[in-house]
Amino acid sequence: GRVGVLYGGLSAEREISLQSGAAVIAALEDAGIDHVAIDVGDNVIADIQAANIDRAFLMLHGPGGEDGRIQALLEFLHIPYTGSDVQSSALAMDKLRTKFLWCGYSQSSAQHLPTPEFAVLTRESDFVAELKRLGGEVMVKPANEGSSIGMSRVKTAEDLQAAFVKATDYQGSVLAERLIVGAEYTVAILDGEALPPIRLETDHSFYDFNAKYIAEDTRYICPCGLSAEKEQELKQLALTAFNVLGCRGWGRVDVMADAQQNFYLLEVNTAPGMTSHSLVPMAAKAVGLSFTELVVTILRASLV
Ligand code: DAL
Ligand code: MG
Repeated sequence: GRVGVLYGGLSAEREISLQSGAAVIAALEDAGIDHVAIDVGDNVIADIQAANIDRAFLMLHGPGGEDGRIQALLEFLHIPYTGSDVQSSALAMDKLRTKFLWCGYSQSSAQHLPTPEFAVLTRESDFVAELKRLGGEVMVKPANEGSSIGMSRVKTAEDLQAAFVKATDYQGSVLAERLIVGAEYTVAILDGEALPPIRLETDHSFYDFNAKYIAEDTRYICPCGLSAEKEQELKQLALTAFNVLGCRGWGRVDVMADAQQNFYLLEVNTAPGMTSHSLVPMAAKAVGLSFTELVVTILRASLV
């Protein structure tokens, strides 16, 4: 059948999505799979119908394309699609509801999934008190964005207020999270399994948009340097976090570790980046899967 690569879109991550989509299109070409590119805009319904596709490869990042909306449209059109379904996409796009699920995952509070302590900021928040409660240094983030868009790392109440205002430019709630000082890891999930974790190192104050896509000095370390037991624990945690949200097919779970190697879940990406700087292709390479083989595997998983 004919595959429609849906990319671009109208979110703040449009430029990244164009890069991810172009890479996927080249891989489908390489694999000899019939395909058509659909740049998702205001005429998306007519464009999908005119393209006459049998399934969709979703390479949209951010609200609209990664949050269940395009998935719901495809369900009504009876077109199978890659990745997570409507409900799990919507939950994973929202870092606040994601935390609620992880925190309430077990009936026993002793068994919740670990995630950094947080506050939901509003104009009425006591910024001084929240900063103090969260350990004096926090990450501020819009709950429904990706690629670190709208995020700040702050340690004064004044900067917290400014970071809050900046984050309100985007959809959804604004979160302040206790800063975890340690290492950042990411775990790709493919077809029900966790791939080898990657450790990220940057000289920026955090792994921000620049460190993700522009800087040439970001370090990607795989094997990640954890002991075999710790690596296994991290992979299992990431897979559980993914499954608790109901995600399927493929994705990527971002995790921080503190100095004692305690892990804290940050979020799940249900349509992670596939650019030349992106992490899922790196993790796939570590298990011997080429980019083209990765794309074909993601596509095949959409048919079950
Ligand atoms: N949101 C970006 C594309 C990622 O997770 O890779
Ligand atoms: Mg993300």
